[in-house]
Order: sequence, then structure tokens, then C-alpha cells
Amino acid sequence: MTAEPLLAGTGALLTCAPEAQGLLRLELADAWPSLPAPRWLADGLALVSLPDGFEAFAAEVKRVAPVFLRHLAPVQVEQPVTASRGVMGALKRGLEALEELAPADAVLAVQVRQVLERGGSACAERMTALERGFAPTAAEVTQCRIETAHPERIVSALLLGDRLLMGVSDAAENLSTWPGGERRYLQVDGQISRAEFKLLEALDVFGMVLPASGVAMDMGAAPGGWSRVLLEKGLSVVAVDPAKLDPALLRDGRVTHLRSRVEERLADAGPVDVIVNDMRLDPRESVSIMLRAAQLLPPAGPAVMTLKLPEGGVTDRALLGSVRACLRQLEGAYCVVGARRLFHNRSEVTVALTAGGKRTTARE
Ligand SMILES: C[S@@+](CC[C@H](N)C(=O)[O-])C[C@H]1O[C@@H](n2cnc3c(N)ncnc32)[C@H](O)[C@@H]1O
Repeated sequence: MTAEPLLAGTGALLTCAPEAQGLLRLELADAWPSLPAPRWLADGLALVSLPDGFEAFAAEVKRVAPVFLRHLAPVQVEQPVTASRGVMGALKRGLEALEELAPADAVLAVQVRQVLERGGSACAERMTALERGFAPTAAEVTQCRIETAHPERIVSALLLGDRLLMGVSDAAENLSTWPGGERRYLQVDGQISRAEFKLLEALDVFGMVLPASGVAMDMGAAPGGWSRVLLEKGLSVVAVDPAKLDPALLRDGRVTHLRSRVEERLADAGPVDVIVNDMRLDPRESVSIMLRAAQLLPPAGPAVMTLKLPEGGVTDRALLGSVRACLRQLEGAYCVVGARRLFHNRSEVTVALTAGGKRTTARE
């Protein structure tokens, strides 16, 4: 027996951090009050029906730039998964049913996730072995080059019980070229903290280009993961933090450690080329420090900061309001390139900035 389709027409899969579901729900309702309510398929994964189609919605998402939406994928076909043909068979039939797949020769990625029950809740997980096994068939059906890195178009598939939800989109429409926005990095020798991934992800997702040389100020630097990343990029670092830095950094002649609170150092600070700020600090205080520090940067000089969110005791509405207020204040001295709760963020939002100007999104 074939199950009832989940959608009447086109839809999208929306991914956010499981703890950010309430915040994403508010952002969706604020931006698109007439959008049908999302149906949560797993922790942090919702299906929404799109009366105007996926492309129009993806363009709207780009304009509004919701902070708590990490990944977007289209659903244009539903395929039953039968015991005889299995998931591979359903994927092949789904690909054949997708219109405007990609021009032949385009670089195409096929990304497959599945919804699993675990510990009493449902979560979405990537099926990398299946993706690899399916690649030759995908190449044959689409006449495209199948690649996981740097795709131009992405076929997204979600295995949900005995059905497969599939769609195809431009890679840029998905907000991340990684399934579910789960940007993974390999641990490297000499890595100081997992926080390094946060900075790498921010540079990557927001397309921030750092100068190949010059001075970076790292506010709230300890133990020094972000400073290490900046050194790797060719910058020397003024690391400001009352806490201890990793000894490997102190041995590096390109690092100056100012062992105090950054507020006490701004008045006599010299010009810098880059500012990063991962301070564990009330977001309003952190923003006010960034506003004062903007004058240290050249015009369009890059900055990355995290806004630490309170854990508990605040309603989602109040929390969203305070994030929006911080972004508005930052506009006083910066252009907000992007603000998102990224995969490697914990209870925080990463903001990418350039000195001067105003941001270009319609976020309120
Ligand atoms: C999350 S840790 C930073 C981790 C760092 N980005 C890394 O990669 O290793 C936050 C740091 O902010 C520092 N901090 C908090 N308030 C500060 C302030 N006013 N000035 C300087 N550092 C501050 C804390 O001492 C703490 O070391």
C-alpha cells in the first residue's frame, strides 16, 4: 500500500540546531506569516509546504537571512521505498523524476540523510556510504560530474520510513554545501581548541576573506584556538584575555598576549587589520566593545564575533529580540555580512562583519 504523500506540491526541509526550533519557528512566522506551519520530522528538521515553489522561497530566505536557519533543501518528489528495489532503486527513480536536474557536465552532489529513532527522539543523519555507492548510477542518469566538494547543484534526499523526499537546487540556495549544514573539519596536529572550527566555519559560510598578512586582534582569545587559526592564515595576533594562553602560542614570536580585559586596552590600541571576538560576555557589552573597536579597522576590514545567548530564563521571543537589537546596533559601525547559528556554535550566534556601511539583508 502506498502511503499518503506528505506534501501536496513542493516543499522544503529546514534544518536548525535542535535547541533553536522555537527560535526558527518565530523567525518563520515573523517573516512569512502565511506560510503553512512547519512539520517537525526530527530534532532540528522541519518540512514546510511551499505554495510558491522552492526557488521563490530560497530567494526570500536570502533576502531575510533568518539567523536560526542553518540549511535549506527542496522537496519536489516523493518516492516510495519498496523492499524489492530498496533505497538505491528509489533514489534512481527519484532522480529520473526530477525536472531541470542540471545541465549535463555540471558538478552535482547527491546528499542523502535519514531520520533515525534514537534514545526516544528522532534525529537526521547523513548516509555517506549510500551516497558513495549511488554515485555511479547518479552519473549515468544525470550525465553530470558527481562530486561532494564544491558542487554547483545539489540533489537532496531524505529517507523517512519507507519514503524518500527528494529535490534539486543550486548549491547557494541550500545555505551550505554540507548536508544539513553540518560542516565537518578534520582535527589537526597542534589544534588548541574545538572553538577553532567555529572560526573556520564562519570564514567559510560567510565567504570572509582575511588579508594574507597584517595584525589581528583576538578578543577573548584564551586558550587560543582562534589565535592559532589566524596565525595559520599568515597574520600576527594581539591576543587579549585575562586567562592563560596555550604555551605553544606564547612561544610564537608573532603573538602578543595582553593579559587583561579588552575594555581596558582599547584606548591605547593601535590599528589592526582584522578583529575577532569570542568573549564569554553579555552580548550587549560585547557589541558595545565591537562598536568602539571598529575605528581600529581599515574601511571594510573584516571582523567575526559570537553573540553568547543566555541559557534558560529567557523566552524565545525575548532572545530573538535581543539578537536583532545587537545586529541593529552593530550596523552603526559595520556592515553585517551574515549572522547565523552555525553548526559549530553552541549557545551562540556567529556574526560576520566588515567595518563601515550597513548590512544588506532585510532581517528586522
Ligand atoms: C569561549 S572562550 C574563547 C575561546 C577562544 N576563541 C579559543 O578559540 O580558544 C571565552 C574567553 O573570553 C574571555 N573573556 C571574557 N570577557 C572578557 C573581556 N572582557 N575581555 C577579554 N576577554 C574576556 C574569557 O576569559 C575566556 O577565555
